[in-house]
Amino acid sequence: MKGIILAGGAGSRLYPLTLVASKQLQPVYDKPMIYHPLTTLIEGGICEICLISTPHDLPRFQQLLGDGSRMGISIEYREQAKPEGIAQAFLIAESFIGDDAVSLILGDNIFYGNNGFDEAFAEFTSGATVFGYHVHDPERYGVVEFDAAGKAISIEEKPKQPKSHFAVPGLYIYDNEVVTIAKNLKPSARGELEITAVNVEYLKRGQLRVEKLSRGFAWLDAGTSSSLHEASAYVQTIESRTGIKIGCPEEAAFRSGFLNISELEAIAESMPNCEYRAYLEEVVKEANRTQ
Ligand code: DAU
Repeated sequence: MKGIILAGGAGSRLYPLTLVASKQLQPVYDKPMIYHPLTTLIEGGICEICLISTPHDLPRFQQLLGDGSRMGISIEYREQAKPEGIAQAFLIAESFIGDDAVSLILGDNIFYGNNGFDEAFAEFTSGATVFGYHVHDPERYGVVEFDAAGKAISIEEKPKQPKSHFAVPGLYIYDNEVVTIAKNLKPSARGELEITAVNVEYLKRGQLRVEKLSRGFAWLDAGTSSSLHEASAYVQTIESRTGIKIGCPEEAAFRSGFLNISELEAIAESMPNCEYRAYLEEVVKEANRTQ
């Protein structure tokens, strides 16, 4: 399966922070925001990734992540000239997707916890898999309604009167049909190719699975100054309590088997003396001890 990270958009809600660096490059405590969705894909066993951003911001992402080899993965880059909708990602990345299934993750979505994503990735064969997460303000999101048996029966984008409290987070898994579906979409009233319209199409075909994420699981979005600050505080709290970093792509690549222990060690050694390097050295030490 291939992975797409969509990291464009104007980031206007974070102005003036986003005058120079895009939203997904802003720090969430000790790492750039983009490390989080990148880590989620790597933890899901995905090592071929395409990052989509604006012509203005793409060079910064390339500077940060390179071709991915430093993390044992490959990263290709594509431009989205204008933010014309999340589902446009499948048109922009058509040649990257080729004949494969694909997972799309939004560059400002942060997931943490025992989430069952890896199972969803590993067990995926066809159709579409999306997730449902209980939130207090569903009207801000794509909202999924379930019947008494727990089967998804409707999905609506930012409904004024939400039919449930379950929002659809920005992580989606699709078979190759998604490219054709995206090609047949018409722009919505707000002029975008909506990801919810893709999900509605799979629902109509009887091929949409919606998995509820458990209560102990964290899904944060970091699109406003307050939510960015809260996400940083959350990451700092968990990291200082557990000594485990959230959103560390090198560690995830090691645990997913994309880097071996000596490669991880060499990567750590190439970093300047800092907490991040010390953490990776600790991961190496621990792995050596338990091997
Ligand atoms: O966060 C999950 C929600 O994301 C879903 O529940 C909604 O169904 C989905 O439409 C989306 O809602 P948002 O209102 O959060 O979408 P937004 O326009 O803010 O875009 C989300 C991210 O994707 C944002 O970081 C910018 C990026 N983006 C968005 C669009 C429309 C792009 O890179 N290009 C685009 O064309």
